[in-house]
Formats: sequence, C-alpha cells, structure tokens
Amino acid sequence: MSDLIFIARYIARNPFSLSRRWFMKSKGPSQILKSGTGSHLRASSATQALDDCLNLAEQPQFRRLMIVDDDSDIRRLLARVFAKEPDLEIASVSSGEQAIEMSVDQKPDVILLNLGLPGINGYETCKRLKAREDAANIIIVSARSSEREQQLAFECGADDYLVKPFNIPEIISRVHVHFRLRQATRVANEAREAISNQSSRVRDIVSARMRETIAMQELALFTLARLVERRDDDTGNHVMRVQTYAGILAKELAVNSEYAYQIDDAFLDDLRRSTPLHDIGKVAISDSILRKPTKLSREEFETMQTHVTIGGDLLDEAIGSSEYGGFMKMAAEIARYHHERFDGTGYAEGLAGTEIPLSARIVALADVYDALTTERPYKPAYPVHRARELILAQRGKHFDPVIIEAFERCLPKFVDVSKRLRDSVLRETKLAPQALLMT
Ligand SMILES: [Fe+2]
Ligand SMILES: [Fe+2]
Repeated sequence: MSDLIFIARYIARNPFSLSRRWFMKSKGPSQILKSGTGSHLRASSATQALDDCLNLAEQPQFRRLMIVDDDSDIRRLLARVFAKEPDLEIASVSSGEQAIEMSVDQKPDVILLNLGLPGINGYETCKRLKAREDAANIIIVSARSSEREQQLAFECGADDYLVKPFNIPEIISRVHVHFRLRQATRVANEAREAISNQSSRVRDIVSARMRETIAMQELALFTLARLVERRDDDTGNHVMRVQTYAGILAKELAVNSEYAYQIDDAFLDDLRRSTPLHDIGKVAISDSILRKPTKLSREEFETMQTHVTIGGDLLDEAIGSSEYGGFMKMAAEIARYHHERFDGTGYAEGLAGTEIPLSARIVALADVYDALTTERPYKPAYPVHRARELILAQRGKHFDPVIIEAFERCLPKFVDVSKRLRDSVLRETKLAPQALLMT
C-alpha cells in the first residue's frame, strides 16, 4: 500500500520527470508494484485484494478528454489530434459554463482549458471544476505566459500549464501523462479501500478470538476457584454469590458515593473476574483445618490466615510470568487484603482505612455477608435482619462506612441474589455457573 501511495505521490510531484518512453513501454503502475520492494505485499493477507486492483489497472480503461476553448480552430485541431487515439472519448466546448455543466455527467479524466474564455474565465472555471470530488486533471493551454498568470492558475487548482503556441507532440505527451496519473491514482484508491476492508475483517476476527480467549480464561479461573471452594464447602455457591454481591456494591458506589471517580467499566470488569479468586490461597491449607467442624485452635487459625498471603503471592507470580497481567493485578490485591479491617485490626498486614485497596474493601463486606447468611460447619445461617445488624455494627471497625451505606441501599438486591443462588440451586437447575450469573 505504501508503495502505491509513494508512486502516486511521486508522479503527482514529478509528472514530467517520468519520460513518455517509460509510460509507453511499461505495463503501467502494476508492473512496478510487482517487482522490487513491492513484492513483500504478496505476503500480506490483503494480497488478493491488491492483485484484484492491479488486474483492474491492467485492463484497458476508457479515457475521457474535454477541450475547453472559445477558439473553434483550436478545438478542431486538438480534436483531430486526439481522434486517432483508441479508447478515447472527446468532448469540445467553448465556455466555462458548458465545461462545468457537461463535466457533471461526462466526468472527464483530463481537461485542456483555455484561460481567456467568455463569461466565467478560465481561472474561475478551473477552481469550480477542481472543487468537485474526483475532479479531472486540468491542463491549462493559454497564450498567457507570465509567471504571475501561471502561478494564479496553479492556485486555482490547475495540474499543468502549456503556453500557446504549443507543439503537437508535447501536448499529446502531457495528456498521456495525466491519463496515466489518473489511472495510478484510481488504482491507489481502489487498493487503499480493498486493504482497509481487509484490515477491518481481520480486526473483527482478532477481536472475536480475543473475546473467546477471555471467556475461556474466565471459565478456567472460575472453575479453579470453585475447586478450591469445594474443599471446605461441598455444595456452596459462595464464589458466585460473593462475586455478585461485590458487583452490586461496586455499581452502587460508582453512581452514589465519594468513590465514584475510582470506579469505571474497567474496574467493574476486573472486579467481576477477580472476586472468585479471593480465597485461592486456601489451596495450600490442609483439609483437617479447612473442613474442621469445630472452632479452630489459635495455631490452626494462624495457619488458616496464611491463605491471604499464599493467594496474593500465587497471583503476583502469575502476573510476573506473563506480559498480559490484566485483571490479575486486582485479583492479587483482593486475595491479599480481603481480611484486612478498616480500623487496622485485620490480617495479614494490618492495613487501615483507604490503605486497603477499594476492591478488597468491597469484597470483604460481600464475603462476610455471605458467610453470615449461609450455613457453615461451625454456625447456622443467620436471617437477613441479623446479618444486617452484625454488619452495621462493624461500621468503621471491620468495614468502610461508605461501603456500609451502599450495602444498606443494596440490601434488597442482596436478598434476591441469595435466593437465586442458594446452595441447592446448581443441582436443581443444572445450569452452568456462568449461565446462572446471567439471570
Ligand atoms: Fe478468605
Ligand atoms: Fe470467601
């Protein structure tokens, strides 16, 4: 493509540095593109489209020439000169008005334009013709030979200038150059359009593949998170519920809190993917502790607490081993800090207030709400009003007061989710986990 543009620009800037011999003997711009540096284009996915354009360029093109001169002798002479050309259509008019009107339908490729016309003069005619889309190449043919007059013509858009009296071989050569230039430009435009269409198809395919890959990644991680969860809870949908509660809280905070500026679509997306991994560190905790039906000893509890560091380190390592860390950064943050408390009495690092990442503060509340409202080996499921009381009592202690406020506003949604994703739902409905989340 760049070769095509280069050739078109080169010809546009230096129309007369290319000899007529080159044009007459070569097979046109397509020949240049198929040799030398242009060959790399075949390797691209757009090669076929480009070849189509080149084939088009090699096909004989019907050319249209318009002669605009008030002198009938000149019109006759030029018409006679070019009448010998094959595949050439000639139109002759005596005024600028006629040229402007006729060129709408006839769409000439090259116009030979006199400046001293009756009515609209040649400069104005040139300007109006050039204002159109896909305007013809205009060669001024005039007796006016001063530098000022030529400059004015070029300022009006003229592509070339021949001073009368002209010689026949020269005017033929110039007209041929401009036909070739038109054809090269047309080929370049066609190729650009074809490659652009091809690129957009490639982009669509790549983005579809990306979506598939991301969906597969999410499913794999979700499955991993559920496997970990299954070790200490045989039937639970804990992972899905916490993910949904956290999403509800984050959306509420995004529209109605001082944290709104921190939460955009990317944050919500990362949170959705990250939350299921919050307890991934439990993979390293023994069954005897995880599944113990009675209260843990101090030593056992300390071992249990290590799941946050283990999970954080595990996910940090995963980020380090890939250049596409993406949402894993938030996942590591949540895994490491979801047991921190707002007043600094949590674990593992004892962070306080907004030192604790927002994502982890959100998941902390979602996680505890689910633990309170579901049955565990060591406790029954508390009713919603009791869970609410316990959580509100932790305002500024365990939980961020701003997130508590959002929780109060969202409680009806929490209740609805806990019903939809109650622990027996998976078996009853046989729906895939992701499908349940869509409902
Ligand atoms: Fe945890
Ligand atoms: Fe949890």
